[in-house]
Amino acid sequence: MNKKIVAVDGPAGAGKSTVSKIVAQKLGYTYIDTGAMYRAVAYKVLRQGKPVTEQLITDIVRDIDIDLQYVDGVTKVFVDGEEITGEIRTPEVSSIASKVATIGFVREKLTELQRKMATRGGVIMDGRDIATHVLPNADVKIFLTASIEERARRRYDELKAKGYDINLDEVAKEIALRDKQDTEREIAPLIKAEDAVLLDTTNKTIDEVVDDILNLCRK
Ligand code: DC
Repeated sequence: MNKKIVAVDGPAGAGKSTVSKIVAQKLGYTYIDTGAMYRAVAYKVLRQGKPVTEQLITDIVRDIDIDLQYVDGVTKVFVDGEEITGEIRTPEVSSIASKVATIGFVREKLTELQRKMATRGGVIMDGRDIATHVLPNADVKIFLTASIEERARRRYDELKAKGYDINLDEVAKEIALRDKQDTEREIAPLIKAEDAVLLDTTNKTIDEVVDDILNLCRK
């Protein structure tokens, strides 16, 4: 099978990163987590300890250095040379990431970086606008979704396992807000590309979804 470019989009908690990582390992591809890049910007913004304004975000993104290193199935995230992998999954960073993602200048800069990362093929990239905007010529396009209840439960389990003191209602509200921000923003909103295959993961196991994607890659 020749080295393909696989685009996976969908809302928070649909299972994009979980299944994309496994597919990448099975195919010997690189996995590119574009959400981690928006999170890296959000993390650096939050670290300034200043009110989060469009001006602050733009100033920060102008000369930020973001690097993703995918080694042995794990993506390490670096900002300005410092590893921040463990810092970017908090609900606070999630919420600011969705906000920074509405700004055109941020999207232009990250989109350019993402396109460069995909040039050699043999990549699976996940996000919100990969099939529609970042890689419209991707060989395989998938739109992964699940019910909001299921997505909230998954995110709750994930955060609980990491030791966060949260409740399911809060997580569901945060996800609903992010869905709204991600789908209603003006630039490159979350939407299924016309030629993407819709996969609803609500009642599927991880293995079933991985097999569905592998079958699409083999076509
Ligand atoms: O996939 P994630 O939850 O790590 O993404 C964090 C936020 O980044 C998400 O709420 C929207 C934004 N994002 C985006 O706008 N475009 C992408 N390609 C990836 C993420």
